[in-house]
Amino acid sequence: MKKIAMLTSGGDAPGMNAHIRAVVRAAIYNGLEIYGIVGGYSGLIEGNFIKLTRKETANIISSGGTILKTSRSKEFMNAGGRAAAAEQLKENGIEGLICCGGDGTFHGAHALWEEHGVQVVCTPGTIDNDLYGTDYTIGYDTAINTAVQAIDKIRDTADSHGRVFLIEVMGRHAGFIAMDVGISCGAEYIAIPEIATNLDILYQRILKQGKTRRTIIIVGEGDEYGGAAVIAELMKQKYDIEPKVSILGHMQRGGAPTARDRVLASHLGVKAVEALLDGKTDVMVGKSMHDIVYTPLVETWTKKKKIFNYMMELSDILA
Ligand code: F6P
Repeated sequence: MKKIAMLTSGGDAPGMNAHIRAVVRAAIYNGLEIYGIVGGYSGLIEGNFIKLTRKETANIISSGGTILKTSRSKEFMNAGGRAAAAEQLKENGIEGLICCGGDGTFHGAHALWEEHGVQVVCTPGTIDNDLYGTDYTIGYDTAINTAVQAIDKIRDTADSHGRVFLIEVMGRHAGFIAMDVGISCGAEYIAIPEIATNLDILYQRILKQGKTRRTIIIVGEGDEYGGAAVIAELMKQKYDIEPKVSILGHMQRGGAPTARDRVLASHLGVKAVEALLDGKTDVMVGKSMHDIVYTPLVETWTKKKKIFNYMMELSDILA
């Protein structure tokens, strides 16, 4: 193997740049030429390749976003798009591909291997932390810390007024962000997609706080009610109270990666290059209990990473 490429795809995540840096440096260390594909799978279809050296990856370890840009490519979801992508890899002499992203990215990479025999290794890059086969995903630690910092500020004003705040965090169909952020912020209630939300209990928690103390309720965006705004409206109709709603949104995806994310991104970057050199394909390189783990791509979405039951119990005890 002489020439490999990498791309970032799906939602960007803090730490992706540290990851790119690690892949590039590990590739060079192992005597490989490394190319970056600009714009995720869309860039691959268009043949948007750039040669990466130590120079391109200098000074990016601390920056958020991804210097390779990213996309959610509709074209790549079609067999025709994937055939064009495989052709680009062949024409450019690329023998192995590293794709960093979430489950959408992994579905695409798996199809590239199955349909065109492209040797592909994936790495978990998403703030959602919803991938089976790794304890944490690149970007998750930064995202929860960003959310906690924002909510600590909201707490100040909520406390001054004795207000009820429903704060919505990202995470798509998974409640990892909501759960960890909720525990970290001492939330009175945490609504997550994995566990039925009980509005009566939620209201009891608000009453327990009384009129002078703030109430912080964290809502994962994938909660079955459809987010914080819907819950606020229901609270108004059912209990005649008007909670304030704050949706943290994309700020959770930005900012300098935490040290934890930089270390994870760096470790997985080196191991992804080594996995290609070892002939591995159709796997995600993850980290669990301090060990590097290789999980077949299909298992990363067919098996479900679970939120431990004790977390909800913990939040109930502490509320
Ligand atoms: O998967 C990461 C994520 O930030 C989710 O938490 C969120 O639901 C989604 O991406 C938002 O995607 P987009 O930026 O494309 O709207």
